[in-house]
Amino acid sequence: MDLKRRPLIAGNWKMNGTSGGATVLVAGLSAAAPDISAELAVCPPFVHIESVRKAISVISLGAQDVSFHDDGAFTGEISASMLADMGCRYVIVGHSERRQHHAEQDQIIAAKASKAMQAGLIPIICVGETLAQRQTGQTEMIIELQLSGAVPRDATGKSIVIAYEPVWAIGTGQVATTAQIAEVHAQIRENLQKRLAEPDYLRIIYGGSVKPENASEILSLADVDGALVGGASLKAESFLAIAKAAV
Ligand code: PGA
Repeated sequence: MDLKRRPLIAGNWKMNGTSGGATVLVAGLSAAAPDISAELAVCPPFVHIESVRKAISVISLGAQDVSFHDDGAFTGEISASMLADMGCRYVIVGHSERRQHHAEQDQIIAAKASKAMQAGLIPIICVGETLAQRQTGQTEMIIELQLSGAVPRDATGKSIVIAYEPVWAIGTGQVATTAQIAEVHAQIRENLQKRLAEPDYLRIIYGGSVKPENASEILSLADVDGALVGGASLKAESFLAIAKAAV
């Protein structure tokens, strides 16, 4: 394993579960984590972070979103410093579900990533094309635009993680082919290699219908440094099976 790019297997629980269920899930994951070489992370809904924090060990804690404001009069928002105070190490920014349902654009995503970095969190910055964009040959251009718009100027290879998540593969069971994944990951690495300090540390993870059945072939690709897992992260058995495939 290249220690500069220790694989990261992050569970995005999305808007699912009760605090009791979250506690049981993370306790089960924590018990198994010492035997797994990859870094594991879970990103519960905000309201479950406290109960997950009490039950977690070895595994990293993350959140699914963060405000681009500093603390203050911003009703309903959660700041990066609050997440850091709760023991979070990661925060997902720019997930396609936020781009799609909450009209988030690259400028906002970059601002969120910056706030996260300032608070000492590592933003997992999501990029990915829609099916229509892929079918019309725009994938490369869309990824370039998202990287230039959503990755903060002062990011380094150590201070961020990139998640490539083709929108058409999320929650659909339709996983990208290894050739498609390899091509986009190589493009992302080449782009950011030129731009970032400490590029050798940059982790680029794949997300979109990652399951125990397809994890090994995806995670063995040269430029894939882990996975962002949605549906399969809600059960300890499937999440751990994916994590064990990262070597
Ligand atoms: P999925 O979700 O694994 O359920 O496709 C991935 C994600 O949205 O991060």
